[in-house]
Amino acid sequence: MKMATVHQPVLLKESLDLLAVRPGATYVDATFGGGGHTRALLSAGARVIALDQDPEAIARGRAALGGEKRLTLVEANFRDLEAVLDRLGVERVAGVLADLGVSAYHLEDPRRGFSYRLEGPLDMRMGAVGMTAAEVVNTLDEDALAEILYRYGEEPKARRIAKAIVRRRPIATTTELARVVQEAVGYRRAGHPARKTFQALRIYTNDELGALEALLAASTRRLLPGGRLVVISFHSLEDRRVKHFIRDHPELKPLTKKPVRPSEQEMRENPRARSAKLRGAERL
Ligand SMILES: C[S@@+](CC[C@H](N)C(=O)[O-])C[C@H]1O[C@@H](n2cnc3c(N)ncnc32)[C@H](O)[C@@H]1O
Repeated sequence: MKMATVHQPVLLKESLDLLAVRPGATYVDATFGGGGHTRALLSAGARVIALDQDPEAIARGRAALGGEKRLTLVEANFRDLEAVLDRLGVERVAGVLADLGVSAYHLEDPRRGFSYRLEGPLDMRMGAVGMTAAEVVNTLDEDALAEILYRYGEEPKARRIAKAIVRRRPIATTTELARVVQEAVGYRRAGHPARKTFQALRIYTNDELGALEALLAASTRRLLPGGRLVVISFHSLEDRRVKHFIRDHPELKPLTKKPVRPSEQEMRENPRARSAKLRGAERL
């Protein structure tokens, strides 16, 4: 029998400590997902505006927490945070939390096409709009594909993989793509040979870094003085952007000199936590 998917929230206590939650104040959870962080915020007495671009995440949230008066759930990309707040008539908030990337619901559902291990359509969209990963691999030219794999996957064999993709396309499924990559690069000691390719396509398909930049800028404009910005990232491209953004904005005071990492125990119990890095800043 298949076990029901549960998304284990990462760095839960650490992120809530950094947010320094004040009961009654309004916080944004920019990445609702399975609602782990939102639930903890509600338990601490906060009002929460929770966003997710995935209609399935919002539907699950409505079913589980629909009666919660202090929670407003919104299906939206967090790059549009300011428009969401305007619509709700909220000028400023006491904190913004973002726990980036995909959830266990995405990774474990073959229909969504995020996993190189599960056969499914090569989709990879977190939301319901935009180009699928299949459209990306089947339409972009070799140079553009190599650039995506190198830039967003830090894949050293980007050129070789891009050439193999172009030779073998159309590619329709996750496992087909994984096979093409594996044949192009051979065995790898550190992880599955297609890991970096899948990361790169996911980041590109969802414009994850563009959305993150927009969220950081919007949050900085909409935080109350003393408000907190807290971000959990899962790869160096994200973490670098958060670090540089905080460094380059004098109106933000860094609260974490070095990123906070999960405890040994959390990493043991939740493998997804292994690459997590948490940074926080206070709006002056
Ligand atoms: C890591 S999960 C969040 C898990 C959540 N903190 C929990 O404890 O259950 C990330 C979620 O953010 C959503 N997401 C990622 N990028 C987004 C974006 N640009 N706008 C809105 N939601 C986004 C994904 O759809 C996913 O559901």
